[in-house]
Amino acid sequence: MNNSFTIAIDGPAASGKGTLARRLAEKYGFHHLDSGLTYRAVGHALLDAGLPLDSEDLAVIVAENLDLGKLDRTILSSHEIGNAASKVAVMSRVREVLVEVQREFARKEPGTVIDGRDIGTVVCPDANVKLYITASPEVRANRRYKEIIDSGGEADYEAILADIKIRDERDMSRKDSPLKPAEDAHLLDTTEMSIETAFQTALAIVEEEQNR
Ligand code: DC
Repeated sequence: MNNSFTIAIDGPAASGKGTLARRLAEKYGFHHLDSGLTYRAVGHALLDAGLPLDSEDLAVIVAENLDLGKLDRTILSSHEIGNAASKVAVMSRVREVLVEVQREFARKEPGTVIDGRDIGTVVCPDANVKLYITASPEVRANRRYKEIIDSGGEADYEAILADIKIRDERDMSRKDSPLKPAEDAHLLDTTEMSIETAFQTALAIVEEEQNR
């Protein structure tokens, strides 16, 4: 037993779950972990060392040596690393190692917000609050497109949309821990919501669970 309050947030790529997780963590003074970064860090280390992405043995060794304190979102957010991450994320032994690292993080006091694909279903099935965030692929692609354009980059909407659909398919159809809402998750479809409305809605759900 421990006294940590855990908020688990799952959902597909670009659903807004990361932003919600960060804002909830800030609001409550909780620790935040974007679990996707742990898969990205493994993919990055393999790419960086010029190692193949299809060797589970190598990926496990990298995962076992992961340092959560060194996860750098700026470096890890590239498209290439995202693809590498989704390849290592289908490996069961890699998942086992990373899930343990994430569970350890979930014990931090006073509480944690962890976002990913399998947090409410596998990593923290006893989380105090579970949220499952979705939005249509078109809206998610548009948000990602705008993000890139607003930060001065170049982007192709159709290519982003195609990529989101491929990643959804890979994440939802994988045998080990596929992306799906936990039975007791609160579903939040943000297709027609601003991020502010989504945050206020998520906040109301968390407050209700806290007062139970
Ligand atoms: O959310 P993201 O794009 O940073 O995730 C990168 C990849 O890692 C993505 O393909 C799904 C995978 N992932 C996972 O399998 N389980 C998690 N809890 C988080 C991410």
